[in-house]
Amino acid sequence: MGVSAATERNEGKTILIIGAAGGVGSIATQLAKHAGMTVIGTASRPKSAEWAKNMGADHIINHYEAFLPQLKALGLEHVDYIFCLNSTEKHWVNMAEAIAPQGKICSIVETDELLDLTLLKNKSVTFAWELMFTRPLFQTADMIEQHNLLNEVSRMIDEGRLRTTVAQILSPINAANLRKAHAILEEGRMTGKIVIENFE
Ligand SMILES: NC(=O)c1ccc[n+]([C@@H]2O[C@H](COP(=O)([O-])OP(=O)(O)OC[C@H]3O[C@@H](n4cnc5c(N)ncnc54)[C@H](OP(=O)(O)O)[C@@H]3O)[C@@H](O)[C@H]2O)c1
Repeated sequence: MGVSAATERNEGKTILIIGAAGGVGSIATQLAKHAGMTVIGTASRPKSAEWAKNMGADHIINHYEAFLPQLKALGLEHVDYIFCLNSTEKHWVNMAEAIAPQGKICSIVETDELLDLTLLKNKSVTFAWELMFTRPLFQTADMIEQHNLLNEVSRMIDEGRLRTTVAQILSPINAANLRKAHAILEEGRMTGKIVIENFE
């Protein structure tokens, strides 16, 4: 679905983005705001909370504490959507509590543990995985949508409607900088994205 179609359907809805300051969360927050949603982002540190707010998050809650009491403190009984960008299994019960009846949860983070889908049954909640390689992996009938989405995002950048998520640039592209970039990412505290540029 393109961003304009998403706006028509999602105006006024609430979305909880788990890991809002990370690479994916930084762009997801901006896209959700373009679709007219109220964004509640999760972050656990002042630096990441500030970053997520700069990307457009309306509220910040902490991913190391239970979600529902924090949402209630913001005056929200639940959220219409949840986008999980970290540890699906650790957040599973929290997500099941925080999601609205007939709400939708999407995760992009694989899990080694089985998830108890029955927690979502009484609320008739939909759970969806999203993997950016599904279309090319399976040559799906809607392969062209990947191209359409990327074109739409590039248009939004050209029009100044999406902001860069680059937080750090390492140069040149060599083994030392690749190791450094991996070490930073492995800490799990990234805000935005790292770019490695220029061959020596
Ligand atoms: N399925 C797909 O197609 C797809 C595509 C891209 C990425 N991914 C996966 O998506 C995940 C996110 O990628 P990313 O590049 O956005 O990661 P990232 O930039 O490394 O994420 C860093 C963020 O994670 C937050 N975080 C740390 N511990 C957390 C926890 N327990 N709960 C919630 N948030 C936590 C940190 O916030 P604080 O510092 O505030 O704690 C930090 O801002 C990765 O697992 C990646 O492999 C999947």
